[in-house]
Formats: sequence, C-alpha cells, structure tokens
Amino acid sequence: MGKKIFSGVQPTGNLHLGNYLGAIKNFVDLNNDKENNCIFCVVDLHAITVGQIPDELRDNIRETVATFVASGIDPEKSIIFNQSQVSAHSEAAWILSCTARMGWLNRMTQFKEKAGKDKEKASIGLYSYPVLMAADILLYDTTHVPVGDDQKQHLELCRDIAEKFNKDFNSENFFKLPEPLIQKNYSRIMSLKDGTKKMSKSELSDLARINLTDENDQIINKVKKAKTDPLPMPSDIEELNKRPEARNLINIYTSLTNSSLEKSIKEFSGKNFSNFKENLAQTLIDKINPISTEIKKLLGDKSYLDKILLDGSLKAGDIASKKIKKIHEIVGF
Ligand code: TYM
Repeated sequence: MGKKIFSGVQPTGNLHLGNYLGAIKNFVDLNNDKENNCIFCVVDLHAITVGQIPDELRDNIRETVATFVASGIDPEKSIIFNQSQVSAHSEAAWILSCTARMGWLNRMTQFKEKAGKDKEKASIGLYSYPVLMAADILLYDTTHVPVGDDQKQHLELCRDIAEKFNKDFNSENFFKLPEPLIQKNYSRIMSLKDGTKKMSKSELSDLARINLTDENDQIINKVKKAKTDPLPMPSDIEELNKRPEARNLINIYTSLTNSSLEKSIKEFSGKNFSNFKENLAQTLIDKINPISTEIKKLLGDKSYLDKILLDGSLKAGDIASKKIKKIHEIVGF
C-alpha cells in the first residue's frame, strides 16, 4: 500500500550534504514511487524561531524549493509548499500546544543545544517548535516521515501528542501515529572538521560542510582539508567504528555510490587517505555539480518557483482545512 509522506526542511540557507543524504535523497526516492502521496514543506514558520532577515528569508524559501526540484522531486507528483501559506499549521500548533506537556518539551535535546547556555533569552517559538512540527505531520494523516537522526526525538513527541489528543477527546485513531523513516547508516552526516559533531548550517566554518551550491573547486578543497587520522584506511567495520572521521567520510562515499560499507572498506582498505579523498571529491562533484547547476538555473526563474509554492499551498490547504475543521468539532469550538 502507498505511504502518506510528509517532511519539512527549514529555509535557512546553505542546505548541505547532511540535509541531502539524511533527508532530501530519501524524499526523491519516495517521490519516485508512484504508490506514495508525498508532501514536502518549506518550514518557514520554523525558520523564524531564530532571527531572520526578511528579504533573505524570502530568497531562502525559493532556494529551498529550487533545491527540492533540482534534486529530483517532481512538483507534479509531490506537493511542495511553504508552511506559512497554510494557516492550519499555526492553528493546529496552538491547539496541540494545549495537549503537549511541559515535561515532554523539557526533554527535547535539540532545544537544549540550540538555546545554549542562555535559555532565558531563547524565543518561546524555539521551545515549542516540536509542537508545530507535530501539527505539520498530523494535519495530513501522515503515515511516514523521512528525516535525519536528529529529528527522531521530535517524532516520538509527535506520536505522544497524537495519542494523548486521541485519548483526551475520546477520538480513537483520529490522529494517525506516524512512523519515522530514518536511513540506517547515513542518518547523521558529521562535520568535516570533527567526526563527532553533526554537519550543520550553524557551524561557523564553511569548511565543515559541503553545501549543495558549492563549486567544484570548493568541494575539492573542503575534502582535501577534511580532518582524518594518521593511519591508513581501515580494513574492517570494527576498526571503522573506532575512527569517527574515517567512518564519516566512508559513510558519505557509500551513500553517494549507493554501495555498502563492506564494499567501500574493501575498495580502499590499507590505502592512504589522499587516494580515497580524490575518489570522494570526484564522487561528490558528480552528484552535486548537476544539482547546484540546476539550482542556479531555477533561481533565475522566480515566477516558476513561486507558482510551485502557490499550487502546492492550495493543494495542501485543501487537505489541512478539512482536518482542522474536524479538530474544531472535536475540541468543542
Ligand atoms: P532541518 O531543516 O534542520 O533539516 C532538514 C532535514 O535534514 C536532516 N539533517 C541531517 N541528516 C543527516 N545528517 C545531518 N548532519 C543532518 N542535518 C540535517 C534533518 O534531520 C531533517 O530531516 N524540524 C525539522 C523540519 C520539520 C519537519 C517537520 C521534518 C518541520 N516540520 C515535519 C519532518 C516533518 C528541521 O528543522 O529540519
């Protein structure tokens, strides 16, 4: 049976290899399966949980759509829209924030990481952000949510909220409990500068990540400068698991070549890193160059990107408004 897929990406600029391998690559595969109904959302409401410059945000929303399309998501097959244009998201988030418990949100590790030492100064939106994410998912009776590993806890919270709402309002099965779709080995792409830290757009040094808009020479340079250890390439998985930087680079290579870890290890076992890095850089270029070229081309046609968002928001709005109407009835409005 086909799946109902929903996932979101924040339009905060610099979409990187982690977003691609952890999420977007999976979106493309799901989009290509005719049985599935996919919705991919540019989560601009999530983006404003931290400060944004309005004109940059507008550009980044378009760039995220361009990245989806350039990566292979077909706007004729999947719904692509931005969250702010379907008001049911904000509304459902409020209603569900009355179901979610403080104690549950207090456990969210991403808030702790993002808020840092000075929690008092974090926005309330940053704190309640997982409730908005639950609203996104539950409005569409989503069965499966493709995400990277860092979103796993938020999905568990979404299930808790759905269960409590169904129970509190005696509405068995009203909200469907979604399953996460997390790629086994590639759900956490690490920084090129520290194999124990997640690759992220917030890391200061651009050398720590490969952006989907990087030029070929930038990719070559970043791979060259990527941290490694002084030993030759590992010869088995056990050894690989003890060497975070080697593991990350081999993971990236394996995911890009759709191969298996065993095969990749065998290919480079005992060789030095420079040989492997040349191969990795070329593999990255082969994958990313067509995407970045296409992103740049699409960004030249803003009206096309805006039309995708408008069409998508009408389709998504249709589904979400029906669900929110039922939510109103259930809670007694
Ligand atoms: P965001 O915008 O931070 O990231 C988008 C997607 O990229 C994945 N990702 C990674 N995967 C592997 N390795 C990495 N280093 C890496 N960095 C990011 C994320 O796991 C994510 O899948 N809250 C979400 C967006 C969201 C959402 C939703 C997702 C809002 N509503 C509903 C699913 C369903 C976020 O901030 O993702």
